[in-house]
Amino acid sequence: MKIFSVIAIIVTPSYAFFTSPNKVRAELKTKILTLADETNRGLTASPEQKEEMQTLFAELEKLNPTKGPLKSPKVNGDWSLDYTTSDSILGKGGFPRVGPIVQNINTENLTAENSEVVSYFGIKVPRSINAELSPENNQFTNVKFKRFNLGPIGFDAPDSFRGSLDITYLDDEVRLTRGDKGNIFVLTRM
Ligand SMILES: *[C@@H]1O[C@H](CO)[C@@H](O)[C@H](O)[C@H]1NC(C)=O
Repeated sequence: MKIFSVIAIIVTPSYAFFTSPNKVRAELKTKILTLADETNRGLTASPEQKEEMQTLFAELEKLNPTKGPLKSPKVNGDWSLDYTTSDSILGKGGFPRVGPIVQNINTENLTAENSEVVSYFGIKVPRSINAELSPENNQFTNVKFKRFNLGPIGFDAPDSFRGSLDITYLDDEVRLTRGDKGNIFVLTRM
């Protein structure tokens, strides 16, 4: 009996220790994407749900499998925004977004584009913002917005329209990013 207790003590913690990071990642991603869906990208998130997302987000960041995400080809292409804390991006209290909110990243040409379709009193109008990226390192880039497009109309962004992207987690499916003003972003590859 004694020997079995000793074995149990030795085996239990080491089992937890050896749980594969892939499995933990997959579990965290499922929880994050489920919560993102339940809260309409964060639009209807309660304070408790917001707090839970912050916790899950930070846990997944610790398991980032891609060092130097801005150097990885995986970062390029179209990403769909699944969750954010940014009310302005969600259009909280304003005109509803129809379909995905898309962010394209192109590190070859150091450009980014956010695009979406907004319903103005039932009329669907595509909107986009083009930006220039100035990376500070392989994970953090400054963003300078260049041009807005609203349906057929285009206009230059004021010089003060700047932001940043800190890519804290990247794999084949999911990207976690911290923006300026403390906002977090969960995106999935399209
Ligand atoms: C970058 O820009 C050049 C010139 O406009 C273009 O030919 C090239 O396809 C672009 N690269 C990517 C990855 O979009």
